[in-house]
This record gives sequence, C-alpha cells and structure tokens, in this order.
Amino acid sequence: MQMNPKRYEKMIYRRCGTSGLKLPILSLGLWYNFGEVNDYETCKSIILEAFNHGITHFDLANNYGPPPGSAERTLGKVLKEGLMEYRNELIISTKAGYWCWDGPYGDGGSRKYLMASLDQSLKNLGIPYVDIFYHHRFDPDTDLRETMLALRDIVRSGKALYVGLSNYGSADLKRAHAILDQLNVPYVITQPSYSMLNRWTEYDGLLNTQYDLLHRGTICFSALEQGLLTNKYIDGIPDDSRAKNKFLHFLTPSDVTDDVVSSLKKLDVIAKSRGQSIAQMALAWVVRDPRMTSTLIGVRTLNQLYENLKTLEHLEFTPEELEEIEYALK
Ligand SMILES: NC(=O)c1ccc[n+]([C@@H]2O[C@H](COP(=O)([O-])OP(=O)(O)OC[C@H]3O[C@@H](n4cnc5c(N)ncnc54)[C@H](OP(=O)(O)O)[C@@H]3O)[C@@H](O)[C@H]2O)c1
Repeated sequence: MQMNPKRYEKMIYRRCGTSGLKLPILSLGLWYNFGEVNDYETCKSIILEAFNHGITHFDLANNYGPPPGSAERTLGKVLKEGLMEYRNELIISTKAGYWCWDGPYGDGGSRKYLMASLDQSLKNLGIPYVDIFYHHRFDPDTDLRETMLALRDIVRSGKALYVGLSNYGSADLKRAHAILDQLNVPYVITQPSYSMLNRWTEYDGLLNTQYDLLHRGTICFSALEQGLLTNKYIDGIPDDSRAKNKFLHFLTPSDVTDDVVSSLKKLDVIAKSRGQSIAQMALAWVVRDPRMTSTLIGVRTLNQLYENLKTLEHLEFTPEELEEIEYALK
C-alpha cells in the first residue's frame, strides 16, 4: 500500500511528558462512525487519509462500534488490507473499563475483565500487541492494586507497550501512578474529556498533576462536544447529525439549547476573525497549553477530517481572543 511520502511534513508531534512516546496533536478516535453500522469504504478512506496527513495515532476501546468490538474489527480490516505494512509507524490504543458484555466479568477494573478484554481486542484487530492499553475508567469497587497489577502483567506479556488511564481525576491518578511507578509499569498518558463547554479538568488541576507532577501526557476527548462545537447546529439540527442518530444516545436534540446556539453564534464571529471554523478554533483551543499532548477527533466524513486538519494552520491565541471566547461561553 502506497502512502503519502510527505505525511510527516505538517503534523506536529508532542511528547507524553518525559516518556519516549510522541503523539500527533490531532489523533483519530473510532468511538462512533467506524462500527458495523457505518459504510466500510468511508471508514477506510478516513483512516488512510488521516495517516496520509501524519495522524499516527488511532484510538479504540473494546466497546466502540456500534456494536461493541466492531470499530476494532474495522481497523483490523484496514490493517489487513495493507496498512499493516506501516505498523511500526502506528500507535494503536484500546481500553477496557466500561460495560462490554453481560455477566460479572464484562465491566469494571478486575484482572479477569482486563485480561479477557485485551485478548478479544487483539483478536478483533488481528495484531499481537497494542501500543497503549488503558483502564477506561476508575473503578471504586475494585482494589486499585489489582487493576494496576493487571496492567503490569499485560505489559510483561507483550500485549501492550505502554499503559494509560482514562477518566481518572487527579487524586486517583496520583494513587494509581504511585503503584505503577513502584511496579515499573510504563504508564504514559491519561485520557479525560475536555472542551470549551466541559472544564472539569481545569477545576481538578489535571494538567498540573499529570504533567508537572507525574511528568506524563494527556490526550483529551470530545473536544467538539460530539459536534456541538461546530457550525452545524447554528441553524437547527441536521438529519445526518449525531444528535439525531438513532444508534447514539450521548448527544440528543435536547443538548442543542438556546444558550448553546447563542454561544455558537458568538464563537462563529471570533472563529471567522481568525480565518477558522468553530471546529478548528475549538480544536486549537484544547491544545493551546503545550502540556496537552494531543486531542482526539471523531470525524464522520472525509470533509470533516480535512477541515479539522486545517486547525494546524492557526494554533495560537492572543490573550484578547481567549477573553472573547470566555465571554461568548457565558
Ligand atoms: N475515554 C473515553 O471515555 C472516551 C469517551 C468518548 C470519546 N473518546 C475518544 O475520543 C474520540 C472523539 O470523541 P467524539 O466523537 O465525542 O469527538 P468529537 O470530535 O467531539 O465529536 C465528533 C463528532 O463531531 C462532528 N464533527 C467532527 N468534525 C466536524 C467538523 N469539522 N464539522 C462538523 N462536525 C464535525 C461529527 O458529528 P456528526 O456525526 O454529527 O457529523 C463527529 O461525529 C472518540 O472516537 C474516542 O476515541 C474517549
């Protein structure tokens, strides 16, 4: 498979803290839009075009689809059809932690769940190892040491090169890191949600913890609030949007409130003055702090991918622009 020889020319790569691992500041997430219910040729062209533009990192979880597991199978098929030739240039991550199958072993943070799930993920992907394996969310009912020991043994077994923790707050990250450090586990990254409309990591002090204290990386997700932070909802709710998708329930028409639309109109003015769309400005905004290693993008079409890639052309913000954005969000 012939890929673009100039694919590394424009992308920016940031290091996960002091670890050896670098990630592109835009990474492709396969939560939705890459399942069995989606058109495979579209999925394939988005994945290949992303890589053609320097996006080396593809983010998955055991439950991505729909149905669960099918997003991993989609990437597995693309790998089999030629992308595997470039495996050494790819960072593939997957996760376990949310519900994935019925019964007592398909959810949470048990050793049983993590081990079984990763085996299933590797089968779906058709590869012997992933680059990053995450515990998908903190599990208050499982002894943290059990989960961390499972991560250690997963790395020791060669089924993952690095480990990550997703949806953990600062306090839990510190506790988890202390165990992982003692066990010599290559923990490199955390994955929280973060966007102009979702600021919990700022109140939590997550970047201070993760970067300044633990010297590790952070990759944020839903930087566009699942599409809300784009131009698409300014004049109503399009039929082909996620808010109207019958398979997806995390964004609904009731999320498109008058307040949100009013903010979008103001953000649109600021974005235009920067020569950007709202999506491009919202993506640049989440990576404005260099301690943010990368942001995931979850695109449904090639045009969305191309639009989001153009974010790289204007990443900086003036203090006045940042103030105007805060005002627009009020
Ligand atoms: N760790 C976790 O718990 C967790 C949770 C959620 C997500 N994630 C990761 O983060 C990734 C991204 O999450 P997300 O899908 O919520 O991200 P997102 O980027 O906030 O939303 C993606 C949606 O935004 C819309 N969009 C993207 N670019 C656009 C553009 N240029 N113009 C107009 N609309 C655009 C599309 O919506 P339409 O379909 O309406 O066109 C697309 O489906 C996931 O794939 C996954 O890898 C992780």
